[in-house]
This record gives sequence, structure tokens and C-alpha cells, in this order.
Amino acid sequence: MSTEPQSHSTHAERPEQTDYLVLGSGIAGLSFALRAAEHGRVLILTKHSSADSNTAWAQGGIAAVLDPHDSVDAHIQDTLTVGDGLCHPDVVAGYLRQAPAAVTELRERYGVRFDVTPDGEWALAREGGHSARRVAHAKDTTGQEIERGLLGAVLAHPHITVREGWMAVDLLNLAKYGGRAGCFGAYVLNTQSGQVQTILARATILATGGAGKVYLYTSNPDVATGDGVAMAYRAGAQIGNMEFFQFHPTCLYHPEAKSFLVSEALRGEGGVLKLRSGEAFMERYHPMKSLAPRDVVARAIDAELKRTGDDHVVLDMRHLPAEFLVERFPAIHARCMQYGIDMRSQPIPVVPAAHYSCGGVVTDIDGRTCVPNLFAIGEVAMTGLHGACRLASNSLLEGLVMGHRAADAVAQSEIDLPSQITPWISGDARDPNEAVVVTQNWDEVRRLMWNYVGIVRTDRRLERARRRIELIREEIREYYWDFKITSDLLELRNLALCAHLIIDCAQRRRESRGLHYNIDHLGKSDAYLRDTIVHRDFGPSAR
Ligand code: SIN
Repeated sequence: MSTEPQSHSTHAERPEQTDYLVLGSGIAGLSFALRAAEHGRVLILTKHSSADSNTAWAQGGIAAVLDPHDSVDAHIQDTLTVGDGLCHPDVVAGYLRQAPAAVTELRERYGVRFDVTPDGEWALAREGGHSARRVAHAKDTTGQEIERGLLGAVLAHPHITVREGWMAVDLLNLAKYGGRAGCFGAYVLNTQSGQVQTILARATILATGGAGKVYLYTSNPDVATGDGVAMAYRAGAQIGNMEFFQFHPTCLYHPEAKSFLVSEALRGEGGVLKLRSGEAFMERYHPMKSLAPRDVVARAIDAELKRTGDDHVVLDMRHLPAEFLVERFPAIHARCMQYGIDMRSQPIPVVPAAHYSCGGVVTDIDGRTCVPNLFAIGEVAMTGLHGACRLASNSLLEGLVMGHRAADAVAQSEIDLPSQITPWISGDARDPNEAVVVTQNWDEVRRLMWNYVGIVRTDRRLERARRRIELIREEIREYYWDFKITSDLLELRNLALCAHLIIDCAQRRRESRGLHYNIDHLGKSDAYLRDTIVHRDFGPSAR
């Protein structure tokens, strides 16, 4: 895939400069911005509207030890257990010890309205894999509430600018062109006008979230197209553990319900997974039953669907008080009612769907990648917190804490921006005339990933997927070179590269661990007690 400053755009304009260029406006990007703005100018670019992020879709909450009877050591242990041998213990301890103060700050400084008990204590929920109630939440729209609090502060900040409708095309890593190693900003596309501009920055922060759209069924919003991972890979950063894609066990099953999550918090309050026949089946799979770790629950559902031939299972909440359900889960209740499902009297039809990428751009505990001045924070990063499977509600937490840590780290660095940058030049790229290439390939990538690289994998399926994805990537590459870029094309290009990286990592791990389950290699092997790391070769033939 091309990484050259590609000959596609309208004119060679003067680059704009900022101190910190943040790509993405979820919890990670906003937390970074608020802290970094204490020592520099921050420019946040977001593809759609500022509130369009995986964060805003998070229902369950944010995990932190906020109850004096709980302990950070227990939170650490639960994270390590679910991570199935691949968590980095120093990172786990570092983030989880910072968690209580960071979450408290959201409430006290940014006015995030977390639920409280009648005596004013934190109301804490329980989710899969947790040994205690430790998930702070705002009913069932926690992410939206956090986004509201942080975005309000960001928009009011004199040193932060937010621009909507701008998407990064590629990072400026001059090493690719024989220059100084390091990231000095990005080429960015105005998604409305089609104009491409160069932005120079002392540090570039990828806060672009996940890649759920690489699968046909996902709980993620449309913006989750793996842009950060793809750009970082093209810029020479290390990418790790992409085989560990988390499937959430319970997304609403209804023909019209696109990407709607039914939070694990429902099972935390006592919801029971059942077959359509009414049989509760999780006791056959794990002692924690419906609240077992997610990889176990998703695989159990997958196995039951294959065994029974049913197209969904159900989540039964009917034994819980009706008023409690409506009060605790107002958004889920309202959405289900929209489709004629009343959880007070009917079980909710659910299926697993792609939810969270545990892999990503390899970083240290502060979000530094191996490319100087390039940081990755939140879901786009692979820090070692999640290992082979993420503990529920540790993700918002990671974004929050990493945002702070990366902001402290960039403040330490002194960087001279290069005086010369190759401008983006339009060349003879034509207006796109075959959008069908984009829609066809978009659909094909997602379907083949779902069928061949999903919850249960085999060597043959992975190999089939690899062959097909390479053909698709070749077609996208041609289209990318010949036609003017659009956001759809860029997203497809990124998505297809993420698909390639997931397949590549999955083929390298010849065992089953955490979220990666290959029936040709059942069981864990000590030989694979390590991260899967890949990176792009800038050799002479690399394009
Ligand atoms: C949920 O509400 O079930 C999602 C929580 C998470 O993914 O951590």
C-alpha cells in the first residue's frame, strides 16, 4: 500500500503548525487534550462530529476500585486472570493504581454524573470476570455522560481547537523518505471539500479508537475503522496482538437493530443467558455462569448456536423487579421497546458481535510508540493492559489514564520541526467514477472476516481469508492511486489493512489463548507466552 505523499490533492499549501495534533475525540483524546493544553496548543481532528466515538457508545461503565471493601490488588488479579498470561503486570498495576483518582476527577472536576447510592456513595456494578462490584456508571449510557463532561471542558478551553469532519490520510514519518526519523504531523483530508492539508506537530497522538467495522456484526459505531492502527503501521510503528479481537456476547438480535449492545451490566444484575428453548446453558461452560469472562461466554454462545441451529440466544431479565429494570437501564429498555421487546416480560434476543480490539499500536506505559513523537492512546494502543482478553470496563479506564500519562510525557520532549515537508500534490488523480468498488470491497472484507476470522478459527479458514484479503487490498491500492481520495476510500483502505494484520497475527499464533481460538491448535503453549508483534518493512520494494 502506498505510503508516499501521494500525488492526489489540489494544491501545495503552507503547512499549518500546532504543538499537539490529536486524532480522535473519545475519552483518550479528550483527556490528553485537557492535560496537554496546560503546556501547549492542541488541535483535535475528528472524522464526524466530536461526540461520535466508541466512548460515547459505551454503556456499562468504567472500572476502578472505589469501594473501601474492594482492593486494587483484586482488580489487578482479575485483569491478569482474564488476560490469560499475556498482560504486562507493570502496566496493569500502573494503570489500575491510578484508576480511583482518575475516575474521581471525572466526577469532581468535569462534572460527570455517575450514579450514586441513596447515601451518596458510588453505585457500583459488576461485570464479567470481576470478583467485586467495581464498575462506576451513569445508568446505561456511561460513555455518553463522560463524553459530555470532557467535551464541555475541551470546547471551553482557550488552548484547544476541535475540528469536525477532518480525517487523517497518513502520518508524516520522514524516515520513510530518507529523512529524520519521527512523526511530525499528518496529511489530513477535509471530508466535505476533499481538500488535503499538511499539519505539522511536535507530537502526534493517535486516539482513533478501534476497528469493529472490520467485522460484519459489531457493537461499534461506523467510525471504528482502524484508522490509527493502519496509519501507524504504514509509518513504521510496531503493531501487536491483533489476533485478540473481543466479541461481546450480547448484542441485540433484531433485523433493524444495527450495532446495539445489550450491556454486560444486565448480567451483572442477575440476567441469565438461555437457549430459545428456555434452558440456561452457561453452567455447562464456566463456574461463573452468565458472568464468566467474555471470551468464554461468546464461544459458548457460538457453540450453542452451531449445535442447535438457532440464530440467537436470549437474555432473561424477567425475574428482576420491573421498576428496577427501567430505572437502571433506561436506554436499553427504550431501544428494545422500539423493536417491540419488553425486557420486563420477554427475554431479549441476543448474539455475539465484534466489540473491542485488544491489539493495536505497541506502546510503552505512557503511550509512546517506537516512532519518535508518535503516541497512541486508548483502544488504538496495545499497552499490555488487556493481554489476550480484556476485563470488562477496563477500556474507558485505559483511555483516561493513558491520556494523562501521554500528556505528561509529551511535555518533557523538545522537538524541532523539520523546515521542509513534501507537500501533498494532486497529480492526475481523477474524480472517483466507480464507487461500487468501495462498497463491494467494504462488504467483502467484513463478511470474510466474520466467516473466517471470527470467534472460532481454523488454519484453513485463516489461509482462505489471507488470500482473499490480499486480492482485495490490491484492488483498493489501484483505486487509491487512480482516483481522488474520499473518506470512504480511506476507511476501506485502513479496514482492509487491519484485516490483513488480524489474519497475519492469528496465523502466527498456533495455539488457543484468550480471545484467539483455533480448533487446529487447541490449548495453550508456553512457546506463545509472548505478544505477537509485526511491523512494516521499508525495504526498496515496499509500497
Ligand atoms: C458493556 O456494557 O457490556 C460493555 C463494557 C465493556 O466493553 O467494557
